[in-house]
Amino acid sequence: MSIDFFTRLPLHGETLHLPGDPRNRGDWQAASSEGGAVSDFAVGDDFTYIDYLGQIARAAEINGFGGVLMVNAPGGEEPWTVCSLLARETRRLKFVTAFQPFHFSPFAAAQMAATYQRASGNRLVWNIINGGSEVIQRQVGDFTDHDDRYRRASEFLDVVKGYWHNEQFHYQGTYYQADGGGLRGPQKKAELPLICTAGSSEAARELAARHADYYLMRAERPEDIRALIDDVRQRAIAHGNPGIRFGLSIDVITRPSDEEAFAEAKRYFDEGIAKGVVKALAAHAGLRSARKLSFEHEYGDKHAGVAFDDFFIHPNVWSGFGYIGLPPGIALVGSYANVVARIREYHAVGIDLFFLAGYPHLEESYRIGEHILPHFRQQRRPASRPAAASNPGVPA
Ligand SMILES: Cc1cc2nc3c(=O)[nH]c(=O)nc-3n(C[C@H](O)[C@H](O)[C@H](O)COP(=O)(O)O)c2cc1C
Repeated sequence: MSIDFFTRLPLHGETLHLPGDPRNRGDWQAASSEGGAVSDFAVGDDFTYIDYLGQIARAAEINGFGGVLMVNAPGGEEPWTVCSLLARETRRLKFVTAFQPFHFSPFAAAQMAATYQRASGNRLVWNIINGGSEVIQRQVGDFTDHDDRYRRASEFLDVVKGYWHNEQFHYQGTYYQADGGGLRGPQKKAELPLICTAGSSEAARELAARHADYYLMRAERPEDIRALIDDVRQRAIAHGNPGIRFGLSIDVITRPSDEEAFAEAKRYFDEGIAKGVVKALAAHAGLRSARKLSFEHEYGDKHAGVAFDDFFIHPNVWSGFGYIGLPPGIALVGSYANVVARIREYHAVGIDLFFLAGYPHLEESYRIGEHILPHFRQQRRPASRPAAASNPGVPA
C-alpha cells in the first residue's frame, strides 16, 4: 500500500483560533500590540494574505508534501480562486479545492477544471463537500436538505464525468439535464481532477462509494478509522469502485522528545481554556449537523479542572485541539519517532493519504518535512486515481 502526504493552507487566517499567539500573518486577525505583521495587508498593498499562503505553498513543496488541502467555509478565502492564484508560483504541488455542487453548474466546473489542469499540469484535486450545517447552508442560499444534497452531488459528478469524457453528452436527471454538450478541442487533453469526498452520514458514504477516488476522514482512534474504512470499502465494492483509497486529516505537534511536544500541547490547551475558547465552541456547536465523532462524545464527561493530558485517546493521539475549538480536532502529539510510529499505525488500518499540519503552518511544514516525511521515502507514491476504478459514474 502506497503512502502520500499533503498539508493544509489556512484559508481563514493562520492563528485566528490559536489561543494566546500574538503572531499576525495577515488580515484574518487583528494586529496585536505584542507582535505584528510586516504589512498591514490593506487592499492595494504590495503584499496580501495570499502572498503568505504562497509562502506556505512553496514551503510545502520544498519540504516534500505532495499537495495542500484548502477548506471551503463562508468565513474564509475561496479555495479555487486561491489555488488559481498560486498554481503558477509552485511546480508540482497539488491543490485540493473544496466546493459544493450548488456553487457551480457541472459544465462550468468541468470547463474551469480543464483550463486549470492544462495550465498546471493536472494538479487540481476536488473535494466535493455538501455542507456540515443546515444553518450555514441556508445562510448562503441553499435550501436543499441534507440527503438531497448528496443525491444532487452524485448527479453532479455523473454529469461532470459525462461532459469530460464525451463531446456530445445527454442526460436527464432530477437535478440536472444536458443536451449535447461536452469538452472539446485542447480541453480534452486535461485529466479529470482526482475526486475526494467526506462525511460519515449514510448519504455521504454512498456518495463516496460511487464516485470518490479518496474518501477523507477526520482522525479518530485507529479502530474507529478501520471500521469506517471497512464500511465505505464494502459499499464501494458494491458500486464497482473497489480501488477507492482513504485519506486522514490530523494535526501534528512534534518535537525531539515527547516531553517537549506535550509542553507545546499544554501551552495551547491552557491558553485556550483561559481564553474561554471552550464556551465559544459550545455556542458554535449548534451550527453543526454532522455526526459527533467518538472522541467528541467524551467531552461531555469532562468538567472544570480538565488538564491537557486528559485528552489522550490513544498513545500520542490527542483530542485537546477539538476541545478548545481547533478543527480537525485531533493532533498527533509526541516525539518525532512516536509520531512516525502512529502514522504507520494509521497506515496499517488503511490510510494512504495523510493531511498533516501544525501551527504556524509555514514553520511546521519545515519541521514535518525535515523530521517526519523522510521516514517514508521508500513507500511514497504520488496520490493518483486508482487504476482499477471502473468510473461507475460515466454515462455515455
Ligand atoms: C478532510 C476533510 C476536509 C473537509 N473539508 C471541508 C470543507 O472544506 N468545507 C466544508 O464545508 N466541509 C468540509 N468537510 C466536512 C465534510 O465534507 C462534511 O460536510 C461533514 O463531514 C458532514 O457530513 P455528513 O453530515 O454527511 O456526515 C471536510 C471533511 C473532511 C474529513
